[in-house]
Amino acid sequence: MMPVTSRPIFIPWSKQRSVRLVAPLALLPLPACSGIQSVLDPQGPSAHQTAVMSWIMFAEGALIFLTVMAFVAYAMFASPNRSAKMGRRQLIVEGGILVPVVMLSALLVYGLTVTDAIVATTEEPSALRIEIVGEQWWWRVRYLDGAGKPSVVTANEVHIPIAQPVELSLRSADVIHSFWVPNLAGKVDMIPGHVNTLRLKAERPGVFRGQCAEYCGGPHALMAFYLVAQSPKEFNAWLAAQSRPAKEPRTSFLERGRTLFLSTECGKDHCCVDCHTIRGTPAGGQEGPDLTHVGSRHSIAAGILPNNIGTLAGWIADSQHIKPENRMPSFDIYSGAELRAVAAYLESLK
Ligand code: CUA
Repeated sequence: MMPVTSRPIFIPWSKQRSVRLVAPLALLPLPACSGIQSVLDPQGPSAHQTAVMSWIMFAEGALIFLTVMAFVAYAMFASPNRSAKMGRRQLIVEGGILVPVVMLSALLVYGLTVTDAIVATTEEPSALRIEIVGEQWWWRVRYLDGAGKPSVVTANEVHIPIAQPVELSLRSADVIHSFWVPNLAGKVDMIPGHVNTLRLKAERPGVFRGQCAEYCGGPHALMAFYLVAQSPKEFNAWLAAQSRPAKEPRTSFLERGRTLFLSTECGKDHCCVDCHTIRGTPAGGQEGPDLTHVGSRHSIAAGILPNNIGTLAGWIADSQHIKPENRMPSFDIYSGAELRAVAAYLESLK
């Protein structure tokens, strides 16, 4: 029988091999550093300041961690004579009290200063004013005119012009939500009976994704939206188009879809018109999103599905499966042809 030895098995460890193993780990955080929903890819002044502050806090935290680990290693592995010196009163007072107090106080002052600058309280007279209301589980968006009255109403998608200050009045219709577009600004709570103001600016055109950042019950995680930053010219054209009533159906198929949508004998507790508005038609429900130009949006169901006839039909027929507990019942009353007609009509509302 071979004798069993207790010698460790030696695995040759080449530089190349360690690089091969470690390199993929180093790449892991990279996908999170850019993208349409990332605090690490700031696209506005407020988001830039937040990102710089986060990196400084991370760097200081990392420095403190490494220093403490170095002391721990020294205490464990240095000769007893040397490690005993670490118990000196002077080292404990300086390293254990003085240094943390100075470093953390500096961070606190820096953090408060930056936060103060981000939450600027001065009103910008030239700012575009938009009111956003958090609802379970979608976003009502109202563009306000000079007198503060809603001029255009839409849902689940916010358009803003680049390089212009934008002032968002954030409200809630039911419970606490939180408005967050990571690429442009920090999150701000939407509190029932209270208005919070968020000022932001986009530096370049782009489509960014936002998300409700406060648990608001049921499908909270499925309460998202898109923010489209565009040139002032494109923005003005968009706003003008949104202010117009809905397009008339161009074909008999779309006409059939509109008739079904407007029907008040749908055989359900609620018909489409009880909850949705389509300006220019008798549909004037206020419970759910305004659908006057629903076909022009990037997504449906509050940022969770791409917008096309297929997803619209799927959403109408089985919204409770796609977004459980949302306020819209699944409409299983339509035949396949009827469902396609309603979905095609909504998709045509550009
Ligand atoms: Cu709304 Cu979470």
